[in-house]
Amino acid sequence: MSMTSTKLVVGNWKMFAPHEQAIQLARDVTKGVLLQREKLESSHVQTIICPTFTQISSVSEVLKKEDTPAHLLSLGAQDCYPAQSGPFTGDISAHMLQGLGARYVILGHSERRQNHQESDEIIRQKVKAATNSGLIPIVCIGEHLTERNEGRAASVLSRQLEGSLSRNFQGILAYEPVWAIGSGITPSQEELQRKLTLIRALLPLRLMRDDFHVPVLYGGSVTAAQADSIFAINGLDGVLVGSASLDAGHFLDIIKAATHTHHHITTP
Ligand code: PGA
Repeated sequence: MSMTSTKLVVGNWKMFAPHEQAIQLARDVTKGVLLQREKLESSHVQTIICPTFTQISSVSEVLKKEDTPAHLLSLGAQDCYPAQSGPFTGDISAHMLQGLGARYVILGHSERRQNHQESDEIIRQKVKAATNSGLIPIVCIGEHLTERNEGRAASVLSRQLEGSLSRNFQGILAYEPVWAIGSGITPSQEELQRKLTLIRALLPLRLMRDDFHVPVLYGGSVTAAQADSIFAINGLDGVLVGSASLDAGHFLDIIKAATHTHHHITTP
């Protein structure tokens, strides 16, 4: 997986959209992406939409029907269980998701860490399960507001990286400060750049290898209005979008912003 120059725009639909609305959203995003196809391809912008479990199959059909190429738009899930199958009532395995057409899976989102008491250890097991089933994990890390204010962000991020990633991790990382999620507040460009530099310095310590570029995304209150300034952050590989991904027009504007930045960075 070579993603060095690819910009990723990931939509996390959480548990927001009722079924019919989600299918319509998938249709609208697909149509919008296909309309911008040439531009997205030349700028290497890839979009990933992550509906809730019950919508994966129908959204997959939408993408198939439009013959949408995976390098333009693909499907991800919001979680998976560590085991492949077994007596786990209410759980869904990476293997099952892969069978429905998912290629990615978000793991360790702060809402799962908080609401389901997911530990770094559990997340690491899920990462392994995802990889073994051929899914690309998108692992979320991020500090709480008090941790940030007390100057503990670096140690929190380091602990989460150490605990959640396997040494042979082949996936995507999303830096999502908990205080920025759903709050309308985003870190300043300067703070985001600093955190990104820190994460980039911590990654090789965990992975003990430098032959694989781990794409790092930013997530937390991303909107079309400030997408340009977020994409301008040096070394950032994309964004993970929650609320703003539920409106096709707004989400497509963010996708468009990813193409501007590419030209900005590569044009001397
Ligand atoms: P938000 O969510 O964009 O609504 O803040 C981001 C996320 O939780 O991934």
